[in-house]
Amino acid sequence: MPAVSGIDKGNGRVYPGYLTPFVAITCIVAAMGGLIFGYDIGISGGVTSMPSFLKSFFPSVYEKQQANSSANQYCQYNSESLTLFTSSLYLAALIASLVASSVTRKFGRKWSMLFGGVLFLAGALINGLAQDVWMLIVGRLLLGFGIGFANQSVPLYLSEMAPSKYRGALNIGFQLSITVGILVANVLNFFVAKIKGGWGWRLSLGGAMVPALIITVGSVFLPDTPNSMIERGQHDEARKQLRKVRGVNDVDGEFNDLVAASEASKQVEHPWRNLLRRKYRPHLTMAVLIPFFQQFTGINVIMFYAPVLFDTIGFGNDASLMSAVITGLVNVSATFVSICTVDKWGRRRLFLEGGAQMLICQAVVAACIGYKFGVDGNPGELPKWYAFVVVIFICIYVAAFAWSWGPLGWLVPSEIFPLEIRSAAQSVNVSVNMAFTFLVAQVFLNMLCHLKFGLFIFFAFFVVLMTIFIYFFLPETKGIPIEEMGQVWKNHWFWSRYVGQDDFLANGGLEMHKEETAVNNV
Ligand code: BGC
Repeated sequence: MPAVSGIDKGNGRVYPGYLTPFVAITCIVAAMGGLIFGYDIGISGGVTSMPSFLKSFFPSVYEKQQANSSANQYCQYNSESLTLFTSSLYLAALIASLVASSVTRKFGRKWSMLFGGVLFLAGALINGLAQDVWMLIVGRLLLGFGIGFANQSVPLYLSEMAPSKYRGALNIGFQLSITVGILVANVLNFFVAKIKGGWGWRLSLGGAMVPALIITVGSVFLPDTPNSMIERGQHDEARKQLRKVRGVNDVDGEFNDLVAASEASKQVEHPWRNLLRRKYRPHLTMAVLIPFFQQFTGINVIMFYAPVLFDTIGFGNDASLMSAVITGLVNVSATFVSICTVDKWGRRRLFLEGGAQMLICQAVVAACIGYKFGVDGNPGELPKWYAFVVVIFICIYVAAFAWSWGPLGWLVPSEIFPLEIRSAAQSVNVSVNMAFTFLVAQVFLNMLCHLKFGLFIFFAFFVVLMTIFIYFFLPETKGIPIEEMGQVWKNHWFWSRYVGQDDFLANGGLEMHKEETAVNNV
């Protein structure tokens, strides 16, 4: 049995090429697609804790909040319609990412990004002008459609464009934009909440038009990836593009492998049904479990509801928004750790270290909150230093997520799927992510109300599970050319039962007629 944690070297093929300024700029622009997602994550939590916003759209929550001082702190924000406002977006994104699969495959990655930007722009406009709850919801559905398209196409775009040696760092540009989007939104919320007249939330919601314009205009100018051009039969342009992207003339090796992958891809009529084949079992497992686990780290409890959570543990409204800014800063800074190390240390090490660190923090936070708030949720007089300790551990937890499951939750799926199922599998990845983001957003306030501090123990349990999963089942993918990835499954102690030696050929192509042999090999 090969080592559980060994780095697979693929077939040892290294394509010539550099990190050219062209590819660097292209990837930076494309990564901006993460801004719209991040901005929205950061804006929602802050807006839903602004009294003027609550008073206009969710008066019952507002009244409960006003009369709260001695009430059960765990339950003051619990409202179905308020959570529906936050989470409706994720249902829309789930549906859009499924549609985006065909657009990304048939028309190229850049059109999906452009489409995503335009939809998001429309949603931001409607939200900024909202007069009634239904306008808020319609706006959020449009934002969700935009995010579905962008999240489906941007990670694929980045992983295809990047030379394999730098793929991790360039792909994490997407997560970096997500975190920058969250931070900008948090800072904006902090300032607009102070606007007299209580219309500051309009700036927050309408401000989403800025990141939307960046990705919309940016994607007009982006070239498509050589992989996608070949997939659509534009061989000559693709060869030229590949030379430009890699900065060398001799791109024959890589080009031929891309063509082989594309030929294999053409024989696949039903990418969705294809996903269910035995040899794609590892890919399907990762496409489902990685986003599922990413959401069950509990990160969005902090991202969406940090101000609400900090308010709950006794900070004033202002201090709560400020704490959200602090966690936002930690989130951005820690992402750089991942950018600098992911192609050196590999994906597995970051996953494992991040998991252990998150677990420790969750245990401490659960103990701190449980000790003071008990089960009735009334802490009496809460010393400031106590809340401070909780915030510190929440920051260490956010840092761990920001260099592990955050970026890797997008990077790993985007680099492991073979071309013939790439678009469909990425849609599965995005939809599962959105479905569980929805679930966590929808039930969190209710869970806080009922599970109380046990909520943190609930997520800690999943962190244990996911860390064990990574240790045993995720092969290392660092540095392996994307169309050569089949090797890692063949050499894996467990997945080699599903992927036979002939399934993914050394040249990255897939020999269809060998499939049956592979199945019988098990
Ligand atoms: C996740 C989001 C999360 C964000 C936090 C992303 O990778 O998909 O759900 O809010 O990271 O930075």
